[in-house]
Amino acid sequence: MKRLLPTLRADQTSESLISVINTIQIAAKEISFRLHQGALAGVLGSTLDENIQGETQKKLDVVANQLLKTLLLESPNVHAIASEEEDSIVESPNSGDYLVAFDPLDGSSNIDINGGVGTIFSILRKPEGEETSENMFLQPGKAQVAAGYVLYGPATMLVMTTGKAVRIYTLDQTVGEFLLTHEKAEIPKDTKEFAINMSNRRHWADPIRAYITDLLDGEEGPRGKNFNMRWNAAMVSDVHRVISRGGLFTYPWDARNPDKPFKLRLLYEVAPMSMLVEKAGGKATDGYRRLMEIVPEHIHQRVSVVMGSANEVDMCMEYHSKHPKPY
Ligand code: F6P
Repeated sequence: MKRLLPTLRADQTSESLISVINTIQIAAKEISFRLHQGALAGVLGSTLDENIQGETQKKLDVVANQLLKTLLLESPNVHAIASEEEDSIVESPNSGDYLVAFDPLDGSSNIDINGGVGTIFSILRKPEGEETSENMFLQPGKAQVAAGYVLYGPATMLVMTTGKAVRIYTLDQTVGEFLLTHEKAEIPKDTKEFAINMSNRRHWADPIRAYITDLLDGEEGPRGKNFNMRWNAAMVSDVHRVISRGGLFTYPWDARNPDKPFKLRLLYEVAPMSMLVEKAGGKATDGYRRLMEIVPEHIHQRVSVVMGSANEVDMCMEYHSKHPKPY
């Protein structure tokens, strides 16, 4: 069974990038250990604080953020980090070549119910000759040099790409190493499965409402086939299912809160997931355009998301083209 670092070397990934990925996997192993200890590690439940997004921080959000932050800022190859849990970017004293954006613990409402959660990361090259500021991170998803996530489920899995295949590694708890368990993830073009938070239906705009209505009408409706629905409430788990067996994952624009019409964050959730989905043969859009083309306006920007099996994403985009755009 192949280990993570030799497979990256075989891909001719540069030593400095390998070292950044190595740092992330060291933090992930520690996060995995704490999560698997559950209540025994005394880290379940919430803190009294809110993050920049106005969300209550779970104790494990803070622990995971601190672990990744400390290790990455010590790395000689990292220039700065951006995290869901930090208001602004944090500069490393080391001035390395890479910028790392991450969501330390995605889907953290699942922590207290022992459900799947994950770490999502995106690695960008530091632009030449620019002063250190948030602007450095404002690069489109297509500029990423590596992207991935660690899913802390029944097994801990690392799914990542450095621009070639999407590889899946499983943490062997007996030796503490990520071992290659899937050489090349491939998302089937067609699917009969979709993932959306249906409870927001009354707030959706026309394109997504029309699309989902036709999926729910199954064999008797215009699609002529039955669809199944799944929702884990953690993007990492839902996208992992899509990468494993196909499907469509969407978190669309909605009218619930005019100040927050989109849910998912572009820089450290959507861009890395889009790179993985595309490299595995799927498509990732906001219903109108390729997500990997969007240049973030600020590090915590949110976007609408439709990603997964290529033909189903195309179908959903067709509905978007036929109805007025809500934003
Ligand atoms: O990052 C936000 C997130 O937790 C995603 O992982 C997940 O897809 C979504 O929010 C869940 O949203 P909701 O609470 O609407 O189910």
